[in-house]
Formats: sequence, structure tokens, C-alpha cells
Amino acid sequence: MMMNKENYTTMIRLKNSDEIARIRESGILLAETLKEVKKLLCEGITTMELDKFAYNYIVTRGGKPAFLGYFEYPASLCISINNQVIHGIPGKRKLENGDIVGIDLGVILNGYFSDACFTQGIGTISGSRQRLIKVTEECLYRALDQTRAGNRLKRVSEAVYSHAKNNGYDVVRKFCGHGVGFELHEEPQIFNYVASGPNPRLKVGMVLAIEPMVNEGTSDVNILDDGWTVVTADSKDSAHFEHTVAIRDHGIEILTEGF
Ligand code: MF3
Ligand code: CO
Repeated sequence: MMMNKENYTTMIRLKNSDEIARIRESGILLAETLKEVKKLLCEGITTMELDKFAYNYIVTRGGKPAFLGYFEYPASLCISINNQVIHGIPGKRKLENGDIVGIDLGVILNGYFSDACFTQGIGTISGSRQRLIKVTEECLYRALDQTRAGNRLKRVSEAVYSHAKNNGYDVVRKFCGHGVGFELHEEPQIFNYVASGPNPRLKVGMVLAIEPMVNEGTSDVNILDDGWTVVTADSKDSAHFEHTVAIRDHGIEILTEGF
């Protein structure tokens, strides 16, 4: 199909306030899960233990981990350590003092999807790692500041990109944020840099997962032999934050707040 500006915008599935309320329920369960996982973070715990905890916590409360089985992804959490950018598969690796750990989670509750992530240090981390985490989280909040009805999507991308660049970092190009709610990944794609391609105007009823992935060095990434784990090409550090937000007429609501 030939794509023009107008039919791209119509591919973005809007949510009414009832549907947003249901995505919020999913987001609340997600946020509670991440909050509990955060409490468990310490030197010596394996990433598999964190994953098992998250799985049980979600399933016990009537939810489903959204990543589990998605393109055969084998776990509930993505746990990405240091030079790992995203999609780290939980396993026997133990967290170590000084590591930075990205914990990404998707939840389905009553058929509605939410998606969020944070990055945090274990024990005492270096000043450069602290700064990377801080700037990446700021990138997310600067993006959220631009997320409102009437703005064009690329203002969101530009907010992430300029803040990362102004701090001497780069952003990952190969992966991006996305619409979310009825499915894990919906239109639009939300790049963390100003890409060519559609630039829809944001509308009330859009629900978006905005997720800056910021690298200390080059933006280039590789995928490990496990078929999932994305690592920086130069082995330098990377950080990732994400929230699911709804655009309302009075501004945005962060549907995954609270971890
Ligand atoms: N938050 C990530 C994303 O939106 C995680 C997806 S992991 C997968 O793509 F296993 F579900 F692919
Ligand atoms: Co996502």
C-alpha cells in the first residue's frame, strides 16, 4: 500500500478513556512488580531469581508477562547489564557491586498491555555510570514534556536526542519506542533521534511507550548469539528508561508510574 501522512496517522489506534483505564490497571500491576523487583536488587542475586519473582508476582495477580513467548522470548523480564542495551535474557549471572542493570517489563492484564523499564546501580557505582543513568532518565522526562496533543512526534524524538548529545552520549538507532495498549507493539514507532519518515501529530487517546536507550560511546549495537541480547558495539555502557503514557486533553498520564 502506498503510505501517505494521513493513512499513517489512522494506523495509530486511539484509546477511549475506558480503554485507558484498563491499560492503567495493567500499568499499576507492572509498576508494583518493578517496585518489588527493585527491592530485591543486590549483589549476588541472579537475574533468573529476579525473573522468577516477577513471573510469580504477575501471574498471582491475574496478569501475564507480555514478553514471555513474544517471538519465543523465554522470560518475563529483560535484564540488561552494563554494556548490554536491551533484551538481556535472565540466567545464572549474578549481579555485582558496581553494575548498572536495566530491568524492562511488559504486562498484560485483562487483555491490555503496558511496558516500562528503569536502570539502576548495584552497590557503589562509578561517577560515569551515575551520570549515564541520570541523563538517560532525564531524556525520558524531557520526552514526556513534549508528549502532548498537537505536538508532532519528532519533537519527542528530538528531546531525547538533543539531551543525550548535549551530554556527550549517543542514542541507539536500531530499536525504538512504540504505541502500546491493545498489543505490545503498535504504531507509531518512536525513535530516539530524528529519523526520516512519518511525523504524525499527537492526538488525545494515543498511548505510547517512550523508551530512550542511551549509549556512553557509539550508537552501534550488536546482537549476541543467544539471538536476543543487544550489546554496544564498543562494549561501553548503556542505560534505558521507559514509561507507558496516555495523551489526554489535559496533558499526559503516566500509566506505569510508581516504581
Ligand atoms: N520494552 C521492549 C520493547 O518494547 C522489550 C521487548 S522484549 C520482547 O521492545 F521480548 F518482548 F521482545
Ligand atoms: Co517497549
